[in-house]
Amino acid sequence: MGKAYFITATDTGIGKTFIAAGLGFAAQSKGLNVGISKPISCGGIEDAVFYKNKLKLKDSIDDINPVKFKQPLSPYAAMKTEKKKVNIARIKRSINNLRKDRDIVLVEGLGGAMAPIKRDYYVADMIKALQMSCVVIARAGLGTINHTLMTIDELKKRKIRIVGIIMNGFDGREISQRSNAQVIEKLSGIKVIGKIKAKSSFADMVKQIQKQRILNTLTPAPLSMKWRGEAERERGGVRK
Ligand SMILES: Nc1ncnc2c1ncn2[C@@H]1O[C@H](COP(=O)(O)OP(=O)(O)O)[C@@H](O)[C@H]1O
Ligand SMILES: [Mg+2]
Repeated sequence: MGKAYFITATDTGIGKTFIAAGLGFAAQSKGLNVGISKPISCGGIEDAVFYKNKLKLKDSIDDINPVKFKQPLSPYAAMKTEKKKVNIARIKRSINNLRKDRDIVLVEGLGGAMAPIKRDYYVADMIKALQMSCVVIARAGLGTINHTLMTIDELKKRKIRIVGIIMNGFDGREISQRSNAQVIEKLSGIKVIGKIKAKSSFADMVKQIQKQRILNTLTPAPLSMKWRGEAERERGGVRK
């Protein structure tokens, strides 16, 4: 089964879709077959459309985004008026199916780790049920320490493996942007595996992902050995 990562964030609008699409694009550039899932959307199918267009996915919008709530609410709130239930077992089956024929699968959550999906059941509980490792997208600036530490705490409480944090929105305008990553790493014990600049074009964001080798953190050997660069090094006998 291909590697799968759950992309969560400290809030909504933090850059989950933008960066997950960038990670997917960078993986495709390495010759990997990428799968994307946005299991639950609330208020529109833009994320699935964005993924389908940017990654030229063959999967239908329904495959990428099976559960759609019309209103921009948490699923817990939307469920009440839209009379629709979230079936986690079904979501798990569809992600596992995707994993069977893809090298890497990225699953975007919704909102943050504590967005309620149903009563007493949050995004973090879904990550646990899916038995996935996760990546946390966090803001670069002031206030991010609070949000990131709280998010990590909820994930740790559920014994979810956190691969790393990607901080998004560096513009050099706040003094805290210079120290936030270091403080978060020190206080949480989780590595900041990437820093993305504010106002990046899609292509520029992908370049930052490549330059910072963020994918290498996500896909350690043996999968990464299939990758072109690694394979070349293998042939050259550099790798011991
Ligand atoms: N580093 C960035 N540079 C430029 N635009 C960004 C950046 N990060 C996010 N955005 C934009 O901000 C908006 C919110 O990001 P999005 O990925 O949709 O957040 P989320 O999926 O967490 O709700 C989108 O319009 C996205 O294109
Ligand atoms: Mg999104």
